[in-house]
Amino acid sequence: MARQRTQVGIVGAGPAGLVLAQRLARHGIEAVVLERRDRAYVEGRIRAGVLEQHTVDLLGEIGVGGRLAREGLVHDGVEICLDGRRTRLDMSAMTGGKKVTVYGQTEVTKDLIAARLAQDLPLVFEAEEVTPLGYAEGSGETPRLAYRKDGEDHELACDFIAGCDGFHGVCRASLPAGALTFYERTYPFAWLGILAKAPPASDELIYARSPRGFALYSMRSPEVSRLYIQCRPDEDLEEWPLPRIWEELRLRLGDAGHLVQEGEVTDVGVTPMRSFVAEPMRHGRLFLAGDAAHIVPPTGAKGLNLAVADVRYLSDALIEHYKEGSDAGLAAYSERAIARIWKAQRFSWWMTSMLHNFGPDQAFEDRVRQAELEYVLSSEAALTTLAENYVGLPI
Ligand code: APR
Ligand code: PHB
Repeated sequence: MARQRTQVGIVGAGPAGLVLAQRLARHGIEAVVLERRDRAYVEGRIRAGVLEQHTVDLLGEIGVGGRLAREGLVHDGVEICLDGRRTRLDMSAMTGGKKVTVYGQTEVTKDLIAARLAQDLPLVFEAEEVTPLGYAEGSGETPRLAYRKDGEDHELACDFIAGCDGFHGVCRASLPAGALTFYERTYPFAWLGILAKAPPASDELIYARSPRGFALYSMRSPEVSRLYIQCRPDEDLEEWPLPRIWEELRLRLGDAGHLVQEGEVTDVGVTPMRSFVAEPMRHGRLFLAGDAAHIVPPTGAKGLNLAVADVRYLSDALIEHYKEGSDAGLAAYSERAIARIWKAQRFSWWMTSMLHNFGPDQAFEDRVRQAELEYVLSSEAALTTLAENYVGLPI
């Protein structure tokens, strides 16, 4: 058995784990990151790509904002299309100058991994059977992460464990029954997404509600478009040859349909839609952050931003512990993070409700949702609340 020791043992090299590790390193706090997958898999996973200002600011503060500043697309506004007619929402004007930046989560992850490896800091890929141990309050044990790597058993002793291992991770699952309360909603639809080598013809994202269902026109760079359509959760991709996807996008985007430029499709996938919160985000010396503790449906692009906000709070608390000897921040972490998470949950749920078609058995509710979106688009006050949430609530 190979034994090692660090200050913070981090499970998962997604945005939450990597940002946490990088921020701690900047403050002289040691961490080891254990990731189940290999580097190519983690860097290739296609996820969302809209960063709130606080996310951009934090990435800059921890020294990984260079390429983001050069290549990120800064957006002042967003368009909402209802039954084929577009309304532009000038988010920046409505929020005192706040903007969002379009930059793929894959790129954020690549920048963070490159920064960690360039500093020669520990990041273990293909760590198998990671098991958090000894973290319960009053157990008198040392928190540890047991794992296997290249057929050898390892044990990493630490002061704290950060469970940044996503929705399907081991940390939340390892907590004793009854330690957490779960809040969950699944939606009766999913998103079929494509990534295409096609220059986006719109400067801004377009969210569309149509009788045929939701569509989203998004992008990753001046050369790459990212497009989504609402589909069934069990959608068979065989039924969606590419010409059908392009045609459906055009139909749902109405007067913006002509903006859809076809190009080589490099990724096709179905994203399920779920709202989920596990509370509290702490058990003894184990802290949950990011998707390990909560999931939002992607309408509104809050997932990555919430993960970054969590690790900002968590790193603040750990810095306070190591530098000032105070555990007040650690004690307050869960409550602090949860308060903001529920506001983002509400926004993501609201956007999802207003923009999707829930099917014939919800005919009344669908008319109400349609009326709500009509109202929002006609009201400066309602659009301002949408803008305020979209650019990100204060940290
Ligand atoms: N052991 C080690 N690593 C694990 C384990 C495990 N048992 N289980 C999962 N992981 C790894 C995953 O392979 C992944 O790399 O944990 C990482 C979790 O990363 P994400 O799923 O990206 O979660 P998070 O860092 O919280 O980022 C949230 O990702 O899913 C999107 O929309 C979400 O944008 C949001 C962001
Ligand atoms: C994306 O570009 O992948 C994206 C953008 C906005 C969203 C969700 C996903 O609300």
